[in-house]
Amino acid sequence: MSRKPLISGNWKMHLNHFEALKLVQELSYAVTVDDVEEVDISLHPPFTDIRTVQTVCESDRLPFHVGAQHCHFEAKGAFTGEVAPSMLAKLNVSYVIVGHSERREVFGETDEMVNAKVKAILANEMIPIMCCGETLDEREAGGAEEKVAGQVKAGLAGVSAEQVGALVIAYEPIWAIGTGKTASAEDAQDMCAFVRSTVSEAFGADAASSVRIQYGGSVKPTNAHELLTQSDIDGALVGGASLEAESFSRIVQYRLSE
Ligand code: 13P
Repeated sequence: MSRKPLISGNWKMHLNHFEALKLVQELSYAVTVDDVEEVDISLHPPFTDIRTVQTVCESDRLPFHVGAQHCHFEAKGAFTGEVAPSMLAKLNVSYVIVGHSERREVFGETDEMVNAKVKAILANEMIPIMCCGETLDEREAGGAEEKVAGQVKAGLAGVSAEQVGALVIAYEPIWAIGTGKTASAEDAQDMCAFVRSTVSEAFGADAASSVRIQYGGSVKPTNAHELLTQSDIDGALVGGASLEAESFSRIVQYRLSE
């Protein structure tokens, strides 16, 4: 089964809405029609930029899917500071990152919360990009697979096989995020294949063959080709290198470089 790669830019807490507009415009010049035939591209700005990014993408018909980095699982209520999935859907957001390791580590998100968010995102007809990944200590102790399998199973509990087949899982080893250390292409491939086998065990072969699995963690123009041509890696979740049009567009164009 051929899976269209998804290259996602997670801007984290960077860029105000003026800077966001500038970056989207620069990207629109750097990315070609051929690129978007080959890959899907999603942009995940901070909440305060989403309306701006949505407006420019729609009015200029730019080939970028609007994304978000996070949302709450409840539909509405007294949750100061939170944003409901339906509010994102109203902005034509199509992909929502959920369970990023920074949300888990810094903001105490649990697997149960991640699971509730995955369901809420699906209920609002958006696509979750559910993150998983191990710490360096867990990897060195030989526990990477156990950690990742646990996150995948708990995060997707109660989701139908059909829905799992249509969503995105991002494998992001925590020790590779923002550190400049990338997993070797072989390790990244092995872990993404392991995520796929975990999906197969829990949801069946059809879901496993269609779910898209991204690698994330210090993806750069210089390593994108090697990582993204691995058979079980269906795209990238890019942090730092997504903040500049030059580097992000070169990652989008990974097939053109060696
Ligand atoms: P970096 O690409 O900056 O390592 O960030 C990866 C990441 O966390 C994307 O979600």
